[in-house]
Amino acid sequence: MSATILDGKALAARLEAELAERAAHLTRVLGRPPALAVVLAGDNPASIAYVRGKERAAKRCGIAARLLKLEQAAPPPQLLEQLAALNADPLVDGILVQLPLPPQHETAQVIETIDPLKDVDGFHPCNVGRLVQGRPRFLPCTPQGIRRLLHEYQIPTAGRHVVILGRSEIVGKPLASMLLDRGAHGDATVTVCHSRTQDLHAITRQADILVAAIGQPRFVRAEMVRRGATVIDVGINRTDQGLVGDVDYDNVCHVAGAITPVPGGVGPLTVTMLLVNTVRAARGGPEAE
Ligand code: GUN
Repeated sequence: MSATILDGKALAARLEAELAERAAHLTRVLGRPPALAVVLAGDNPASIAYVRGKERAAKRCGIAARLLKLEQAAPPPQLLEQLAALNADPLVDGILVQLPLPPQHETAQVIETIDPLKDVDGFHPCNVGRLVQGRPRFLPCTPQGIRRLLHEYQIPTAGRHVVILGRSEIVGKPLASMLLDRGAHGDATVTVCHSRTQDLHAITRQADILVAAIGQPRFVRAEMVRRGATVIDVGINRTDQGLVGDVDYDNVCHVAGAITPVPGGVGPLTVTMLLVNTVRAARGGPEAE
Protein backbone atom coordinates (compact mmCIF):
# COMPACT_ATOMS: atom_id res chain seq x y z
CA MET A 1 0.00 0.00 0.00
CA SER A 2 1.29 3.46 -0.83
CA ALA A 3 1.45 6.33 1.63
CA THR A 4 -0.87 9.33 1.80
CA ILE A 5 0.92 12.15 0.02
CA LEU A 6 1.12 15.27 2.16
CA ASP A 7 0.52 17.90 -0.47
CA GLY A 8 2.30 21.03 0.72
CA LYS A 9 1.84 22.79 -2.58
CA ALA A 10 -1.95 22.55 -2.43
CA LEU A 11 -2.02 23.63 1.21
CA ALA A 12 0.27 26.56 0.44
CA ALA A 13 -2.10 27.67 -2.33
CA ARG A 14 -5.07 27.62 0.07
CA LEU A 15 -3.14 29.49 2.74
CA GLU A 16 -2.00 32.06 0.18
CA ALA A 17 -5.62 32.77 -0.71
CA GLU A 18 -6.40 33.45 2.99
CA LEU A 19 -3.28 35.55 3.32
CA ALA A 20 -4.20 37.64 0.30
CA GLU A 21 -7.47 38.57 2.03
CA ARG A 22 -5.67 39.51 5.24
CA ALA A 23 -3.07 41.49 3.29
CA ALA A 24 -5.81 43.34 1.38
CA HIS A 25 -7.51 44.25 4.66
CA LEU A 26 -4.23 45.46 6.14
CA THR A 27 -3.54 47.48 3.02
CA ARG A 28 -6.80 49.35 3.61
CA VAL A 29 -6.00 49.89 7.28
CA LEU A 30 -2.37 50.91 6.86
CA GLY A 31 -2.77 52.76 3.58
CA ARG A 32 0.01 50.56 2.14
CA PRO A 33 0.58 46.84 1.67
CA PRO A 34 2.50 44.79 4.25
CA ALA A 35 6.15 45.03 3.25
CA LEU A 36 8.97 42.52 3.33
CA ALA A 37 12.60 43.44 2.67
CA VAL A 38 14.68 40.59 1.28
CA VAL A 39 18.44 40.99 1.44
CA LEU A 40 20.42 38.90 -1.01
CA ALA A 41 24.19 39.10 -0.56
CA GLY A 42 26.27 37.46 -3.27
CA ASP A 43 25.51 35.21 -6.18
CA ASN A 44 24.72 31.76 -4.77
CA PRO A 45 22.44 30.28 -7.47
CA ALA A 46 20.23 28.42 -4.98
CA SER A 47 19.77 31.60 -2.93
CA ILE A 48 18.88 33.57 -6.06
CA ALA A 49 16.23 30.95 -6.92
CA TYR A 50 14.80 30.91 -3.37
CA VAL A 51 14.61 34.69 -3.25
CA ARG A 52 12.80 34.77 -6.59
CA GLY A 53 10.28 32.28 -5.24
CA LYS A 54 9.71 34.45 -2.15
CA GLU A 55 9.23 37.58 -4.27
CA ARG A 56 6.74 35.85 -6.53
CA ALA A 57 4.73 34.43 -3.62
CA ALA A 58 4.64 37.85 -1.92
CA LYS A 59 3.30 39.40 -5.10
CA ARG A 60 0.56 36.76 -5.37
CA CYS A 61 -0.58 37.66 -1.84
CA GLY A 62 -0.48 41.44 -2.25
CA ILE A 63 2.59 41.83 -0.05
CA ALA A 64 5.25 44.27 -1.20
CA ALA A 65 8.65 42.60 -1.48
CA ARG A 66 11.66 44.90 -1.66
CA LEU A 67 14.79 43.13 -2.89
CA LEU A 68 18.16 44.54 -1.81
CA LYS A 69 21.16 43.01 -3.53
CA LEU A 70 24.73 43.21 -2.37
CA GLU A 71 27.77 42.20 -4.40
CA GLN A 72 29.47 38.90 -3.56
CA ALA A 73 32.48 40.88 -2.26
CA ALA A 74 30.50 43.58 -0.41
CA PRO A 75 32.26 44.39 2.89
CA PRO A 76 30.45 43.44 6.12
CA PRO A 77 29.77 47.07 7.23
CA GLN A 78 27.77 47.63 4.05
CA LEU A 79 25.37 44.82 4.97
CA LEU A 80 25.10 45.98 8.59
CA GLU A 81 24.34 49.56 7.48
CA GLN A 82 21.71 48.27 5.09
CA LEU A 83 20.05 46.40 7.95
CA ALA A 84 20.18 49.40 10.27
CA ALA A 85 18.38 51.43 7.59
CA LEU A 86 15.71 48.73 7.19
CA ASN A 87 15.26 48.52 10.98
CA ALA A 88 14.62 52.26 11.09
CA ASP A 89 12.30 52.31 8.06
CA PRO A 90 8.64 52.44 9.22
CA LEU A 91 7.54 51.26 5.77
CA VAL A 92 9.31 47.90 6.24
CA ASP A 93 7.49 45.32 8.37
CA GLY A 94 9.68 42.26 7.92
CA ILE A 95 13.36 41.70 7.10
CA LEU A 96 14.88 38.51 5.76
CA VAL A 97 18.57 38.00 5.04
CA GLN A 98 18.95 35.05 2.72
CA LEU A 99 21.44 32.48 4.02
CA PRO A 100 24.15 31.33 3.53
CA LEU A 101 26.10 34.57 3.38
CA PRO A 102 29.42 35.05 1.56
CA PRO A 103 32.32 34.08 3.86
CA GLN A 104 33.42 37.60 4.87
CA HIS A 105 30.19 38.07 6.84
CA GLU A 106 29.68 36.86 10.40
CA THR A 107 26.24 35.27 10.18
CA ALA A 108 25.47 35.52 13.92
CA GLN A 109 26.36 39.22 13.96
CA VAL A 110 24.23 39.89 10.89
CA ILE A 111 21.20 38.15 12.38
CA GLU A 112 21.62 39.98 15.68
CA THR A 113 21.56 43.28 13.82
CA ILE A 114 17.99 42.67 12.60
CA ASP A 115 15.29 44.26 14.78
CA PRO A 116 13.70 41.26 16.59
CA LEU A 117 10.26 42.75 15.87
CA LYS A 118 11.00 42.58 12.14
CA ASP A 119 12.79 39.21 12.26
CA VAL A 120 10.28 37.24 10.19
CA ASP A 121 12.71 34.31 9.91
CA GLY A 122 12.67 33.95 13.70
CA PHE A 123 16.46 33.57 13.80
CA HIS A 124 17.36 36.45 16.17
CA PRO A 125 18.62 35.16 19.55
CA CYS A 126 15.73 36.98 21.30
CA ASN A 127 13.22 35.12 19.16
CA VAL A 128 15.04 31.80 19.47
CA GLY A 129 15.14 32.27 23.26
CA ARG A 130 11.44 33.04 23.38
CA LEU A 131 10.68 29.96 21.30
CA VAL A 132 12.69 27.73 23.63
CA GLN A 133 10.86 29.26 26.61
CA GLY A 134 7.53 28.38 25.04
CA ARG A 135 6.45 31.97 24.31
CA PRO A 136 7.36 32.35 20.64
CA ARG A 137 7.19 35.62 18.72
CA PHE A 138 7.95 34.60 15.12
CA LEU A 139 8.08 30.86 14.50
CA PRO A 140 10.84 29.88 12.06
CA CYS A 141 9.27 29.25 8.67
CA THR A 142 10.17 25.64 7.86
CA PRO A 143 9.21 24.20 11.27
CA GLN A 144 6.03 26.29 11.19
CA GLY A 145 5.22 24.87 7.75
CA ILE A 146 5.80 21.30 8.97
CA ARG A 147 3.52 21.84 11.95
CA ARG A 148 0.82 23.33 9.73
CA LEU A 149 1.04 20.36 7.38
CA LEU A 150 0.69 17.86 10.26
CA HIS A 151 -2.31 19.85 11.51
CA GLU A 152 -3.91 19.90 8.07
CA TYR A 153 -3.69 16.13 7.73
CA GLN A 154 -4.79 15.60 11.35
CA ILE A 155 -1.58 13.82 12.28
CA PRO A 156 -1.31 14.17 16.07
CA THR A 157 1.97 14.86 17.84
CA ALA A 158 0.92 14.51 21.50
CA GLY A 159 2.65 11.52 23.04
CA ARG A 160 4.14 10.55 19.68
CA HIS A 161 7.82 9.92 19.14
CA VAL A 162 9.17 12.42 16.63
CA VAL A 163 12.67 11.71 15.36
CA ILE A 164 14.41 14.63 13.66
CA LEU A 165 17.49 14.02 11.54
CA GLY A 166 19.60 17.18 11.61
CA ARG A 167 20.36 19.74 14.33
CA SER A 168 20.40 22.92 12.26
CA GLU A 169 19.41 26.30 13.67
CA ILE A 170 16.93 26.69 10.80
CA VAL A 171 15.04 23.40 11.07
CA GLY A 172 16.16 20.73 13.55
CA LYS A 173 16.59 22.76 16.73
CA PRO A 174 13.54 25.03 16.42
CA LEU A 175 11.31 22.16 15.29
CA ALA A 176 12.37 20.16 18.34
CA SER A 177 11.46 23.12 20.61
CA MET A 178 8.06 23.55 18.98
CA LEU A 179 7.12 19.88 19.17
CA LEU A 180 8.25 19.63 22.80
CA ASP A 181 6.06 22.55 23.83
CA ARG A 182 2.85 21.93 25.69
CA GLY A 183 -0.45 22.23 23.88
CA ALA A 184 -1.86 21.78 20.42
CA HIS A 185 0.63 20.37 17.91
CA GLY A 186 3.20 19.84 20.66
CA ASP A 187 3.54 17.43 23.57
CA ALA A 188 5.70 15.10 21.49
CA THR A 189 8.63 13.01 22.67
CA VAL A 190 11.44 14.34 20.51
CA THR A 191 14.76 12.81 19.55
CA VAL A 192 17.23 14.84 17.50
CA CYS A 193 19.83 12.80 15.61
CA HIS A 194 22.97 14.05 13.89
CA SER A 195 26.20 12.96 12.25
CA ARG A 196 27.60 11.53 15.51
CA THR A 197 24.47 9.62 16.50
CA GLN A 198 25.10 5.92 16.99
CA ASP A 199 22.82 3.15 15.77
CA LEU A 200 20.74 5.60 13.78
CA HIS A 201 18.52 2.98 12.18
CA ALA A 202 17.39 1.68 15.57
CA ILE A 203 16.27 5.19 16.48
CA THR A 204 14.61 6.13 13.20
CA ARG A 205 12.65 2.87 13.28
CA GLN A 206 11.05 4.02 16.56
CA ALA A 207 9.69 7.18 14.97
CA ASP A 208 5.97 7.77 14.64
CA ILE A 209 6.98 10.91 12.74
CA LEU A 210 10.38 11.01 11.05
CA VAL A 211 11.71 14.37 9.84
CA ALA A 212 14.73 14.39 7.51
CA ALA A 213 16.63 17.69 7.40
CA ILE A 214 20.25 16.82 6.74
CA GLY A 215 20.84 17.80 3.12
CA GLN A 216 21.89 14.35 1.91
CA PRO A 217 20.12 13.02 -1.16
CA ARG A 218 17.92 9.95 -0.48
CA PHE A 219 19.59 9.33 2.89
CA VAL A 220 16.46 7.83 4.51
CA ARG A 221 15.89 4.38 3.07
CA ALA A 222 12.86 2.14 3.50
CA GLU A 223 14.52 -0.08 6.13
CA MET A 224 14.96 2.99 8.38
CA VAL A 225 11.21 3.61 8.55
CA ARG A 226 8.61 1.89 10.69
CA ARG A 227 5.56 0.74 8.74
CA GLY A 228 2.86 3.39 8.86
CA ALA A 229 5.13 6.22 10.07
CA THR A 230 4.75 9.78 8.82
CA VAL A 231 7.83 10.89 6.89
CA ILE A 232 8.57 14.59 6.42
CA ASP A 233 11.31 15.40 3.90
CA VAL A 234 12.88 18.83 4.29
CA GLY A 235 15.76 18.15 1.88
CA ILE A 236 16.15 20.01 -1.39
CA ASN A 237 19.23 18.56 -3.05
CA ARG A 238 20.25 19.52 -6.55
CA THR A 239 21.61 16.40 -8.26
CA ASP A 240 22.25 15.25 -11.85
CA GLN A 241 18.75 13.76 -11.72
CA GLY A 242 17.18 17.06 -10.68
CA LEU A 243 15.83 18.04 -7.27
CA VAL A 244 15.70 15.19 -4.77
CA GLY A 245 14.91 15.11 -1.08
CA ASP A 246 16.68 13.53 1.89
CA VAL A 247 14.30 10.56 1.61
CA ASP A 248 14.43 7.71 -0.89
CA TYR A 249 10.85 8.50 -1.82
CA ASP A 250 10.23 5.73 -4.37
CA ASN A 251 10.92 3.02 -1.79
CA VAL A 252 9.91 4.76 1.45
CA CYS A 253 6.44 5.58 0.10
CA HIS A 254 5.60 1.84 0.23
CA VAL A 255 6.40 1.67 3.95
CA ALA A 256 5.31 5.06 5.29
CA GLY A 257 1.73 5.87 6.21
CA ALA A 258 2.13 9.45 4.98
CA ILE A 259 4.97 11.23 3.19
CA THR A 260 5.87 14.62 1.75
CA PRO A 261 7.04 14.75 -1.87
CA VAL A 262 10.02 16.79 -3.09
CA PRO A 263 9.29 19.16 -4.66
CA GLY A 264 5.79 20.11 -3.55
CA GLY A 265 5.97 19.13 0.13
CA VAL A 266 7.59 21.26 2.81
CA GLY A 267 9.25 23.79 0.45
CA PRO A 268 6.14 25.75 -0.64
CA LEU A 269 4.97 26.00 2.98
CA THR A 270 8.27 27.53 4.09
CA VAL A 271 7.64 30.41 1.72
CA THR A 272 4.01 30.75 2.81
CA MET A 273 4.98 30.91 6.48
CA LEU A 274 7.42 33.71 5.73
CA LEU A 275 4.47 35.67 4.38
CA VAL A 276 2.32 34.68 7.38
CA ASN A 277 5.03 36.13 9.63
CA THR A 278 5.26 39.27 7.50
CA VAL A 279 1.52 39.91 7.78
CA ARG A 280 1.74 39.35 11.54
CA ALA A 281 4.63 41.82 11.76
CA ALA A 282 2.60 44.37 9.78
CA ARG A 283 -0.31 43.99 12.19
CA GLY A 284 1.95 45.41 14.86
CA GLY A 285 3.70 42.22 15.82
CA PRO A 286 2.49 38.84 16.98
CA GLU A 287 1.64 40.24 20.46
CA ALA A 288 -0.98 42.50 18.85
CA GLU A 289 -3.09 39.51 17.75
N1 GUN B 1 18.39 29.60 3.59
C1 GUN B 1 17.82 28.38 3.63
N2 GUN B 1 16.68 28.42 4.33
C2 GUN B 1 16.52 29.68 4.75
C3 GUN B 1 15.51 30.33 5.52
O1 GUN B 1 14.53 29.75 5.98
N3 GUN B 1 15.71 31.66 5.72
C4 GUN B 1 16.79 32.32 5.25
N4 GUN B 1 16.90 33.61 5.52
N5 GUN B 1 17.74 31.75 4.54
C5 GUN B 1 17.60 30.44 4.29
